[in-house]
Amino acid sequence: MQEIIRQLDEKRAKARLGGGQKRIDAQHSKGKLTARERIELLLDEGSFEEWDMFKEHRCTEFGMEADHTPGDGVVIGYGTVNGRLVFVFSQDFTVFGGSLSETHAEKICKVMDHAMKVGAPVIGLNDSGGARIQEGVDSLGGYADVFQRNVMASGVVPQISLIMGPCAGGAVYSPAMTDFIFMVKDSSYMFVTGPEVVKTVTHEEVTAEELGGAVTHNTKSGVADLAFENDVEALMMTRRLIGFIPSSNREKAPTVPAVDAAERLDHSLDTLVPTNPNQPYDMKEVIVKMVDDGDFFELQPDYAKNIIIGFARMEGAPVGIVANQPLVLAGCLDIKSSIKAARFVRFCDAFNIPVVTLVDVPGFMPGTTQEYGGIIKHGAKLLYAYAECTVPKVTIITRKAYGGAYDVMSSKHLRGDVNFAWPSAEIAVMGPKGAVEIIFRGEKDDPAKLAQREAEYKARFANPFVAGSRGFIDDVIMPHETRKRVCRSLSMLKNKELENPWRKHGNIPL
Ligand code: HXC
Repeated sequence: MQEIIRQLDEKRAKARLGGGQKRIDAQHSKGKLTARERIELLLDEGSFEEWDMFKEHRCTEFGMEADHTPGDGVVIGYGTVNGRLVFVFSQDFTVFGGSLSETHAEKICKVMDHAMKVGAPVIGLNDSGGARIQEGVDSLGGYADVFQRNVMASGVVPQISLIMGPCAGGAVYSPAMTDFIFMVKDSSYMFVTGPEVVKTVTHEEVTAEELGGAVTHNTKSGVADLAFENDVEALMMTRRLIGFIPSSNREKAPTVPAVDAAERLDHSLDTLVPTNPNQPYDMKEVIVKMVDDGDFFELQPDYAKNIIIGFARMEGAPVGIVANQPLVLAGCLDIKSSIKAARFVRFCDAFNIPVVTLVDVPGFMPGTTQEYGGIIKHGAKLLYAYAECTVPKVTIITRKAYGGAYDVMSSKHLRGDVNFAWPSAEIAVMGPKGAVEIIFRGEKDDPAKLAQREAEYKARFANPFVAGSRGFIDDVIMPHETRKRVCRSLSMLKNKELENPWRKHGNIPL
């Protein structure tokens, strides 16, 4: 027995060393943590239960039969984050560059299958050279097994990807199908084909960082949700994200004891909206002043900044916030912002998180760039997302709600549960200037007359009362009482039940 225990300790020590001290040192010298160090930081201390530490690859090509490392380049298991169960896999770059073999894939699938069975999030720490080249099609099959599970788990358990090293080729498609992607600046990148292939095919010269680094995917492509300075920050923020989301679609999001009073008023909001409708203001101020303790976990803050998305809490319960940002492109809806918000609304809906929408939108962005890019289909994504969404929906129009964008932004007509407007709200088919130029086209050579028409239109339509008279707005509220009114509405909606008709699945305009 003593001998077996000694052998076990020896085997564990070998497995823990992964690809060896030299490669661990190389990993550290790049500012990266090892697969196990990352898990230790991510999970509550001492909570990690590891599986398949001794699993090895079965490849016999290219001399691989003599090259085995226990664990085969990925550390898997489960543990807790603030006491809540999560499943995790962490690729070990020190073992064959973290490349994915058939057995490596089997290990990832094992945690995904368990996560689905018990209803808990899957967190993937990605650091891999892609398909294990020596294994050929076995490795490709392994990827597809993971992809299939990503799709089956979508909307059932939250899936979070941290990109903490290379992520190239088809390997990017597993993270792409997860709910959130966090990247680490300067040490992680994602692309379908690397800089060398790009140079050969398109003659473009581009660095890996420019092509698929954290900044690129957080500002240009919108593939990633957040970028962090280092591994530690990325892991700590993942713990924070977990605090806002439920473990599965069968649960409500976890609440925390409410300290911030639901009845708290904020009089500074009464003067936030400028009298000049063309002057912008920062919608983030409304968010921060409305939510518990000013604590807002923003996602994609540097991409499509004309819309703001993120998590916060109201009376201790998580909510998803979607808000037009008048500071950027006047808060217009365009292709990028529609897709950004649509995906977020669908996440909230899938995981029982109420959506609070703040509206100041002059309409959809006009122009050939948008039309040729397919704004019709992409804008429809947001419309579709709000329309199919059955979680509690509370909407506040702070200023402009014009045209189709009025309808889209969680309006009463799309089953908005409670729709408020501030006294500064302007709800109409379009802004006064555009409207009179169309309906009084015959008077276009008489500026004085046109100005008078504009003033008349403004007085008649640029207010919340016409919509209020139809019941499309439940109440016109003072800005300072926004938090109180939203808290009451969410509390009233706590046990909301609404189901869409049965279908295999809808056909969202992709
Ligand atoms: C086997 C690999 C590997 C791979 C790296 N290694 N990638 N082994 N299969 N895919 C090994 C290296 O041989 C090396 O072993 C160790 O990992 C570290 O690699 P280095 O190149 O020394 O590290 P670095 O300079 O940091 O470069 C990392 C890298 C590079 C950029 C990831 O290794 C690379 O370009 N690898 C190949 C990437 C690739 O083309 N993958 C296939 C993509 S296609 P030693 O023993 O020296 O430490 C794909 C298809 C999936 O993934 C399709 C799914 C549908």
